[in-house]
Amino acid sequence: MTCTSRPLVIAGNWKMYKTPAEAVQLVEELKAHGSTVCQTVKLLIGPSFTSLPAVLEAAQGSALEVAAQNLHWADEGAFTGEVSGPMLAALGVHRVIIGHSERRQLFGETDQDVNKKVHAALKHGLKPVVCLGETLEQRENGFTFEVLSRQLAAALADLKAAALGDLALAYEPVWAIGTGRTASPEQAQEVHAFLRGRLAETSAALAAVTPILYGGSVKPDNAAALLGQPDLDGALVGGASLTADSFLAIAKAGLAAV
Ligand code: PGA
Repeated sequence: MTCTSRPLVIAGNWKMYKTPAEAVQLVEELKAHGSTVCQTVKLLIGPSFTSLPAVLEAAQGSALEVAAQNLHWADEGAFTGEVSGPMLAALGVHRVIIGHSERRQLFGETDQDVNKKVHAALKHGLKPVVCLGETLEQRENGFTFEVLSRQLAAALADLKAAALGDLALAYEPVWAIGTGRTASPEQAQEVHAFLRGRLAETSAALAAVTPILYGGSVKPDNAAALLGQPDLDGALVGGASLTADSFLAIAKAGLAAV
């Protein structure tokens, strides 16, 4: 593996899949077969809220990091069905995925909500993985970079530059999520370089080390081409993260490609 200042991060977004017992089973499989990749690749898994305690316990002592898929921005309050930063921090969760396109599209999450969640996560020591991405219509009409600029600026509004050190971004073109259609490696690289350039306007030093992951139908057979691109520092994987074989195959392909 070429030594870069950015480690390869392979993250699994388990979405609304797996009971706690099924989630623990997958953790055990990752631990059993993942030792060869864990040394050089950071593996991050994102189970549902109900599986977090069992997954954190099963992952203890391993190199697996655990992320929540969402949080509310308030510390507590009358917000039926929501989960707060202090609740996740108390469990020992390491990171939190914020602004996934399914949250934005299906649950009406706005750029301003994303910003409040980023602030809340950082306040409670949870490292945010901020998701950004354009729809097919926006891409076809030439608005990709405008949309991404807006999403990024809004997500990071009023953050101190130093906060970038705890941040990861995930570029997830909405048209590629769960569709089997991926951005080409060149399309993804173009966007990642653009995003890193935007981060560099705040801090060139931190932009150089901020992991920018690609997400959207990443599979074992396309991972190498994508992760071989210079500004792709990892993958946020949905469907293919649900079995140890395909998740680890993506990590191995990525490792071989960097
Ligand atoms: P997918 O999902 O890999 O199933 O396309 C990616 C994501 O939504 O993070």
